[in-house]
Amino acid sequence: PDAPAVTARLLAWYDRHARDLPWRVGPAERAAGIRPDPYRVWLSEIMLQQTTVAAVRDYFHRFTRLWPTVGDLAAAPDDRVMGEWAGLGYYARARNLLKCARIVARDLGGRFPDHYEDLLALPGIGPYTAAAIAAIAFDRPETVVDGNVERVVARLFDVPEPLPRAKPRLKSLAATLTPDDRPGDHAQAMMDLGATLCTPKSPACGICPLRDPCRARAAGTAADLPRRAPK
Ligand code: ADE
Repeated sequence: PDAPAVTARLLAWYDRHARDLPWRVGPAERAAGIRPDPYRVWLSEIMLQQTTVAAVRDYFHRFTRLWPTVGDLAAAPDDRVMGEWAGLGYYARARNLLKCARIVARDLGGRFPDHYEDLLALPGIGPYTAAAIAAIAFDRPETVVDGNVERVVARLFDVPEPLPRAKPRLKSLAATLTPDDRPGDHAQAMMDLGATLCTPKSPACGICPLRDPCRARAAGTAADLPRRAPK
């Protein structure tokens, strides 16, 4: 599929149907060039590692009410933060969250780095999270690939190889779609499409903004992709 055409359709869809999530800015603010707060983007991405959007919402509201800035979080006692994290699981994430907040607050003047490599150097920030923060908070043309995006790409390009073997291929195909204009919105639009229409079972191809360029839709294979190697 032709990347500029795919991105244009996807962004037009996102402008109308973006999920209203507490760490995002609304359509009017987006149109005015207002970026989301990197602290909120970082916090949301750490919480969303291995946890669903639905489960994260309340925790995100509570954390940002208690600690509106990275400096506030950095100054919080460990046991307060761990207590508020209870229920999200994976407590190493919370410990790295605090480590990272303290580095950003003390060594970086409270400002998150705005490039992939510098983000990757921070505790708790791996390749996925570094790309997500660089794209979403700073509009860097990084390619953000989670499970939802893998599914969208596998279908759009009708990739028959099973996961996990297909991962590198899906990543490089996803990279061909990343635009220089609005890469942060593009990344979030891919995630939203995978979460709301291009779902694992019974994808809503009939109302999908990518139905025309989608190769799996044309081949009738969408619901069977991505394949997964038997364990
Ligand atoms: N999952 C992980 N990060 C996300 C984001 N920024 N928007 C929607 N779903 C996500």
